[in-house]
Amino acid sequence: MRKVVDNEEIDWRYRVFDSLSYPTLILKPDYTIVTANRRFLELFDQQLEEIAGMKCYNFYEADVPCNSENCPLVRVVNTRQGQTLPWKKANRWEDRVFSPILDDHGQVAYVIESIRDVTRVKQLESELSDIKEMISRVVHSSASAIVAADRQGSIQLMNPAAKELFKVGDREARVIENAADLYPEGKAWEIMRMLRDEKVGGGKGKLSGLPTTIVAADGEEIPVEMSTAIVYDDDDQESATMAIYNDLRKKLEIENQLKEAQRQLAQSEKMASLGQLAAGVAHEINNPLTGILMYASMTMEQLSETNGLYRDIECIIEDANRCREIVKNLLTYSRSTDSRRSIIHANELVEQSFKLTRDQKIFRNIEIHRQFSDEMMLLNVDTNKLSQVIINLVINAADAMGKEGKLTVRTWRDKSARKVYLEIADTGCGIAEENVSKIFDPFFSTKPRDKSTGLGLSIAYGIVEEHGGRISVKQTGPEGTTFLLELPQYIPVKE
Ligand SMILES: Nc1ncnc2c1ncn2[C@@H]1O[C@H](COP(=O)(O)OP(=O)(O)OP(=O)(O)O)[C@@H](O)[C@H]1O
Ligand SMILES: [Mg+2]
Repeated sequence: MRKVVDNEEIDWRYRVFDSLSYPTLILKPDYTIVTANRRFLELFDQQLEEIAGMKCYNFYEADVPCNSENCPLVRVVNTRQGQTLPWKKANRWEDRVFSPILDDHGQVAYVIESIRDVTRVKQLESELSDIKEMISRVVHSSASAIVAADRQGSIQLMNPAAKELFKVGDREARVIENAADLYPEGKAWEIMRMLRDEKVGGGKGKLSGLPTTIVAADGEEIPVEMSTAIVYDDDDQESATMAIYNDLRKKLEIENQLKEAQRQLAQSEKMASLGQLAAGVAHEINNPLTGILMYASMTMEQLSETNGLYRDIECIIEDANRCREIVKNLLTYSRSTDSRRSIIHANELVEQSFKLTRDQKIFRNIEIHRQFSDEMMLLNVDTNKLSQVIINLVINAADAMGKEGKLTVRTWRDKSARKVYLEIADTGCGIAEENVSKIFDPFFSTKPRDKSTGLGLSIAYGIVEEHGGRISVKQTGPEGTTFLLELPQYIPVKE
């Protein structure tokens, strides 16, 4: 036992000091090392005799005392309060704790410096901060929109994907601060209620794959799929809520395209089978019809106009002619007539169709607006058949407008898609919602039976399809109807 203090009474205190598991020094306010305990000497591989009486700054390899303001020893002496100095030595982290020992007058007589190895704590802290950093990076770079809010609903976190989805920028029309601002009115409460409802999510505070609608900062309502959860603290108390959103717009668009494709396929199949039937019926009826017309005409020739039967035979001929017209249309519909294709500019095709419309009276009180693109829009089509399509659309538009209205014909092309578009818009009565899916069916008509066959659009459909194009109702409502024709653009070899 090294004896530094003579007084036997305090010998036990020295023993306590020597046995402390922290390396410890006792210093005088003038930086002199009075003594050091065993752990200290072991740590620095020193003998007490070598360091007792040394100045602490000399021991720590400095020539002069360190900056007095930052020196913990000076601070302890001045404040009579303990001080802690974090210290890094190679891979080791230490906390050097300085505590005052006061004399009978309350002045600092000595200072105890003890060294605590906090390397493990620092390592854990750094690991934790690495994990926090990683989580924050994951959240930041996630392609899904992530939003977290505190118990009051105040938004605490919105990752970049969420800012993009909710269109949160510098100049938004609406400020999004609270979770309730993320949804249409009342929706946030409904979601919270579902989160807590045993019947919905098992009451575990979690819901996944929930389809809902969010409201972006500019007011746009966006369909999303959300997974949401209540965040609980260690005491099982609700401390926050978080939600992950996936934008459903693309998915819904693809689903709609798929539905439209399925609808078109069903329509094509229906048309194909009806086409076969129509062709068969038309073929069978053609011969007896020719007979009826021939015998009726011969009978009429033998009658004078005053004969009571003359008017009846005239009616037979009129109706038989009408039947012949229907049969002719049916044969066109079933695509049994030959196709003669030629190259024509889309605008010229429209003009030609206008001229070919037999009953020019229908245009009398109708303003016709031409919005023609002057780009190269060549088509390789059977011009007679395509004119028939356009005439049909124009007559339908005129019928829908009644006495007066505005007919707008637009043409344009999409060069990269190699498509030519032709649009016919009217200001007519529109198509009733329940009829939109039926208008391309053969014999569907809302017009008087003696005036219409209801074959116009179905023939048009068949012709356009035969040309590798598409015909559709782009828009319809009380303000009018727009039909869109889409045809493949003919590209001459040199263009
Ligand atoms: N531009 C339009 N505006 C409003 N309804 C329309 C328009 N085009 C077509 N329709 C509706 O679609 C139905 C079918 O049209 P479609 O051309 O096939 O036959 P139709 O015009 O009735 O008879 P047809 O063409 O044989 O004279 C019409 O009866 C009408 O109800
Ligand atoms: Mg028609």
